[in-house]
Amino acid sequence: MMQVLAMLYLWLKAGHVIFVIFWMAGLFMLPRFFVYHQEAPEGSSENAIWVDRERKLMKIIMWPSLFVVWGLGLALAVSGEWFTQGWFLVKLALVLVLSAYHMWLAGYAVKLAQGQRQLTGRQLRLLNEVPGVTAALIVIMVIVKPF
Ligand code: HEM
Repeated sequence: MMQVLAMLYLWLKAGHVIFVIFWMAGLFMLPRFFVYHQEAPEGSSENAIWVDRERKLMKIIMWPSLFVVWGLGLALAVSGEWFTQGWFLVKLALVLVLSAYHMWLAGYAVKLAQGQRQLTGRQLRLLNEVPGVTAALIVIMVIVKPF
């Protein structure tokens, strides 16, 4: 029985990391889409194509991945009894930052579809550092487990 649970834990972890990769890919791609989108003339057919691409990326990749990463991550935390571990609590706080960033991107996509271009291309490129730095800290926490 223990062996089955150990195998299940590894399959959960494999699924978790696979969807982490999909989610991170979306978190990096969407701000890039915004940059190119904002270079297209407002009301043009190219503008409409970018609106459609952004919607599809969120609907098909980013939202499902966010839910699966959280679902499998919490299943791992429960079965591994990690909730009292310092590394896990720091990881959870960092993942909440990534999730808040995801929500902000979703809001920006809606505004952009309505024609509101609030940030410059340079600001959007700078923002793209957020998921990179946060993901690096998350992976260090979960692999090294420093405390
Ligand atoms: C969404 C909330 C998340 C929760 C609750 C969560 C929880 C966990 C737990 C409990 C483990 C198993 C740790 C172990 O067995 O040593 C794990 C593994 C892992 N998580 Fe997450 N995680 C979440 C999101 C993320 C994110 C966003 C990333 C990366 C950006 C990530 C990267 C990883 C990696 C790389 C592993 C494998 C670690 C290993 O094999 O030692 N997780 N996660």
